[in-house]
Amino acid sequence: AQERVSVTVDATQPGAKIDRRIFGQFAEHLGSGIYEGVWVGKDSAIPNTRGIRNDVVAALKAIKVPVVRWPGGCFADEYHWRRGIGPERKPMMNANWGGVIEPNTFGTDEFMDFATQVGAEAYISVNVGSGTVGEAAEWLEYMTSSTQDGIGAERARNGHAEPYKVAFVGLGNESWDCGGAMTPDFYVSQMKMYARFVRNYNKAQPMQRIAVGPSGPDTAYTEAVMKSYKGRSWAWDIEGLSLHYYTTGGGFPVSQKATGFGEKEYAVILQDTLKMDELVKTHSAIMDKYDPEKKVSLVVDEWGAWYVATPGTDPGFLMQQNTQRDAVLSALNLNIFARHADRVRMANIAQMVNVLQAMILTDKEKMLLTPTYHVFRMYVPFQGATFIPVTLNAGTYSFGDIRLPRVDALAARGSDGKIYLSLTNLDPKTPVDIDVASLNFKVRTATGETLSAATFDAYNTFAAPQTVAPKPVTAKMKDGKVMVRLSPASVTVMALQP
Ligand code: AHR
Repeated sequence: AQERVSVTVDATQPGAKIDRRIFGQFAEHLGSGIYEGVWVGKDSAIPNTRGIRNDVVAALKAIKVPVVRWPGGCFADEYHWRRGIGPERKPMMNANWGGVIEPNTFGTDEFMDFATQVGAEAYISVNVGSGTVGEAAEWLEYMTSSTQDGIGAERARNGHAEPYKVAFVGLGNESWDCGGAMTPDFYVSQMKMYARFVRNYNKAQPMQRIAVGPSGPDTAYTEAVMKSYKGRSWAWDIEGLSLHYYTTGGGFPVSQKATGFGEKEYAVILQDTLKMDELVKTHSAIMDKYDPEKKVSLVVDEWGAWYVATPGTDPGFLMQQNTQRDAVLSALNLNIFARHADRVRMANIAQMVNVLQAMILTDKEKMLLTPTYHVFRMYVPFQGATFIPVTLNAGTYSFGDIRLPRVDALAARGSDGKIYLSLTNLDPKTPVDIDVASLNFKVRTATGETLSAATFDAYNTFAAPQTVAPKPVTAKMKDGKVMVRLSPASVTVMALQP
């Protein structure tokens, strides 16, 4: 017999504000992530605004994308921004991703237009690997200075007189690997120069600098970067430290399939994804040593599932399908970030469209929303909400030697004043009957949406795009408790109302 599963919400003990930027996106020049996924060109038959597809923008607006990281990834450390501005674009090789020609048609001004259309902040990753401090500094000057300045005037000639707002600048990407295979100390001395000279001239938008941090559990970069942190919010200090961790269920090269997997692979992937909690704790503990006031954010700017590429596609394009398992995986990670809201103040899932654990897949004029997209939409009320602790009697889901919590829960008070509760049933075979008590207020109704599927490896296709889609849910009330049945491998978000 299964243990009884219950959750108690205690709204008398509010925690940190859940930064809406933990629902951020990452968009790299990789496969069809930008070209076709975002950019179709002004002359395309696909409806677009200045070359940017309208259907994708509308879908991203519906999930209130707070921030987009661009142009990479590994691509960023080989990107030379001047090739992507003005009337004459200069193509380059995309050496990291399929060895294809990057036309540079989508450059700085197009990205800023896209971010503005979506309503998202810009997170620009500058080239520390093959670029120079001067090149990066001029890029920021191009984007943020006024038209009186020489480079700002160039931007105005390219059609945008108003300085752009750059909320975040990434000082390199994975400098321990594709970004230059730098030792931690070498990186720190490079990074300090970028932090010093890559300036923001637009006073209307404060800019945060994000240093390269750890890959998974390796603490060498965390130690080196944080040791060099002096606590000044000017000059050559940083405001954020990046963490990258992908769920692969076995490391690289990846071996897990995105679809057509069994329960063992389902359990392996969820076990692997839950390691995120330990990683956040490990790196936060080091950050606490050097920054006890938690001024520096931990920024999980690459996370998500990475599987074997869709058969028949270029493996360098990292295209993969997205199943109900990925919906569960995304809820678990978002819950972890929210629980560490005092330190994790941004996260960017990899990647936004057509690449890895995408929100959206496109095929020429067609577009579909993935199960992961639906979780991001259901979680909109958690954006900027105040964390509320829960006491969870989670039960256990086991497969072979793997033991996982059967249920995960997240509660928060939304900016509309309502209390929101997310419940995830990890068990892929058995529904869970859960009762929810609240300590200090009487719940009269609990309604929301649930995302479940006939099988845990169900996914949406262009022929059947609604196979996995949220449905309304209303919980029963009994003795002042909310009683709800969670379908196998499902995610449910409800508003608890007095
Ligand atoms: O997201 C794909 C790649 O994964 C990124 O370019 C890189 O930063 C990471 O290794």
